[in-house]
Amino acid sequence: MTDMLYDNPGLKFKNQDCIGESVWQSPSNIALVKYWGKKGFQIPSNPSISFSLSKSFTETRLSFQPAKGKDFNVKFSFNNNPQPDFEKKIISYFKSLTKIFPFIEQLDFDIQSKNTFPHSAGIASSASGMSALALTLCDIEQHCFNKQTRLDDFFQKASFIARLGSGSASRSVYGGWVAWGAIEGMESTSDLYGVPIKNYIHSDFLNYQDSILLVETGTKTVSSRIGHDLMNSNPFAKVRFSQAGQNAKRLVEVLKSGDIDEFIRITESEALSLHAMMMTSQPSFILIKPQTINIIDKIKAYRKETGVPVSFTLDAGPNVHLLYPKSVKDLVKEFINTDLMPHLSENGFIDDEIGAGPRKLI
Ligand code: DP6
Repeated sequence: MTDMLYDNPGLKFKNQDCIGESVWQSPSNIALVKYWGKKGFQIPSNPSISFSLSKSFTETRLSFQPAKGKDFNVKFSFNNNPQPDFEKKIISYFKSLTKIFPFIEQLDFDIQSKNTFPHSAGIASSASGMSALALTLCDIEQHCFNKQTRLDDFFQKASFIARLGSGSASRSVYGGWVAWGAIEGMESTSDLYGVPIKNYIHSDFLNYQDSILLVETGTKTVSSRIGHDLMNSNPFAKVRFSQAGQNAKRLVEVLKSGDIDEFIRITESEALSLHAMMMTSQPSFILIKPQTINIIDKIKAYRKETGVPVSFTLDAGPNVHLLYPKSVKDLVKEFINTDLMPHLSENGFIDDEIGAGPRKLI
C-alpha cells in the first residue's frame, strides 16, 4: 500500500498534453486529540483526531502549462494579491515533491487561492490551504497521465502529499471524523496519511457543532514549526505523547458509544495539555488570554448548572472552539448571546459544524 504512494508514472508525458486547471475547495479542521510534536520528516509523535469543518474552507485554482524556462515557475496569489514570500514556500514544497511527481519539473503553475474565513480568525489555514493544493496536484497527475485511480487511493495519496506540506492538512482531505497517526489497535491508521474514521459513529457526533468564539484576532501566535520543534526538548514530551496515544484510542471508542461526558473529559484535557506544552517549553508561549479563561469558566459553570453538554477545545491561539451536538443548538445560541458575547472581540463568532470534506469544482 505504501509503495503506491511513492509510485509515479515514470514516463514523461508529452508536454503539450499537460495543460489545464484544477479547482478544489478543501476544509479546515479542528483537532480534538492534538498533534504537537513531530519526528523525522512530517511524522507525528502521536496520533491526532479531528473533524473537518463545513463553512471554513480554502478554494484553490491551480492552472498549469508546459514550463517555459529550464526550471518550473510558480505564481501564487491570495485574494487576487500576489504573495512572493509564500511563492518561495510553495516552490520549496513542490521541489520536495518532485520524486513523487516528476511532472512538476516540466510545468509552470499559476495558483489562486482564497479562504471563506478571515485570515485573523485563528482558524488553521495551513490545513485547508495545503490540502486544497495537494488535491489539485493529485488531479494534474490524473489529467496528464490519464490515470484512473480508485477514489480511495486518490484521497489517500492526496492526504500523504498534504501531510508533507502541513501535518494537520493530511486530515482535511476527508469530511467528518479523521485520524492521522498510528493508533494502537487500529490497523487502518498510519503516520503517513489521514484516514476517515469509518466505523459506526454515534448520531450525537455526526452533526457536531463548532462555534468559534473570537477572543482576539490578528495576534501573532507561535509558528507551528517552532512549536513542534520545541517538543524535542520539552521535559514532559514523553508523557504527553503517550497521553495523546491513549486519548486517541479512547476517543475512537467514545465516538462509537456516544459517551458525551467522556468525550468532554478527553477533549478538554487535550486542549489544556496542548497549551501546557507551550507553557512548559523553552522558550515558553502563553497563547491564551484572560478572556479565554473567562470563557472556559463560563462554559464549565453553564454545563454544571444546566446539564447542556457544551465543551471547549483550543487551537494554537486564544480563540475558543465551543463544541456541542446539534440537538442543543438553540440553547447554546442563547448561552453565547447572553453569557459569552461580552468576552468576544468585535468579530463575534463563526458558526461552523462538521462538514462533508473537499469538493472538486473543476
Ligand atoms: C495545534 O499542522 O500547522 O493545530 O505540520 O508544521 O504544518 P505543520 O504543523 P500544523 O500543526 C497543527 C497543530 C495544532 C493541532 C492539530 O491540528 O492537530
